[in-house]
Amino acid sequence: MKIVVLKDKKAQGQAVAALFAADVLTNQHPVLGFATGSSPLPTYAALIDLYKANVLDFSNVTTFNLDEYVGIPAAHEQSYYTFMRENLFTKVNVDLSRCHLPNANAADPALECRQYEQAITKAGGIDIQLLGIGLNGHIGFNEPSDVFPDQTNVVALTDSTIEANTRFFASRQEVPRYAMTMGIGTILRAKKIVLVISGKDKAEITKAALQGPIVPQVPASILQTHHNVVVVLDEGAASLL
Ligand code: GLP
Repeated sequence: MKIVVLKDKKAQGQAVAALFAADVLTNQHPVLGFATGSSPLPTYAALIDLYKANVLDFSNVTTFNLDEYVGIPAAHEQSYYTFMRENLFTKVNVDLSRCHLPNANAADPALECRQYEQAITKAGGIDIQLLGIGLNGHIGFNEPSDVFPDQTNVVALTDSTIEANTRFFASRQEVPRYAMTMGIGTILRAKKIVLVISGKDKAEITKAALQGPIVPQVPASILQTHHNVVVVLDEGAASLL
């Protein structure tokens, strides 16, 4: 694992955008894996700047997002589809028909999960996958568990995740209880992984994920086994390393 510690979120965003820019510039058909949450926002802002400066062309890019809530429509203001449209997809020249998120409300969720995996394979696999981390160590929505799930699947969100996500909804009652997420195996099959973590409140989970034992109770700890991971921290997140 390469660990980079930077001053603040803006610098983190620029560094992560540079890593994604390298793939967009060097691959004929770049396949980018995206994430939601507050951590990736400076990256998306920096990618939009590179597009506006005519450095990056997204017309050939395919994207796959990590996860989506079950039980709210794609058009809901808090869906991850809306998040990606607002924070990136409508601000660059990506072809929306090549931007994929799991259809978490599919009539047959198991079939949708299989088809999501197949779509990633058909696109040639993910060249570079962006990840944030939950306070409990989740990546995507792979919550602490006794196993590392391999494939895209539907998960019940933990109380701590529901609590953390309540800030985005009018009340705790409205926070979705389930999500569809890439599995840990799906994430590990990406050729390169970039994990971005900001803030002192993530310092403990950062230490557990990067320096603790590799256990499914800390899902992000599995990243220690991947051959091409860059972890981009700010000083707060790195403060216990
Ligand atoms: C959600 C997403 C995760 C993300 C996490 C942390 O749970 N499903 O992919 O990493 O939030 O979000 P934040 O970056 O806002 O702390």
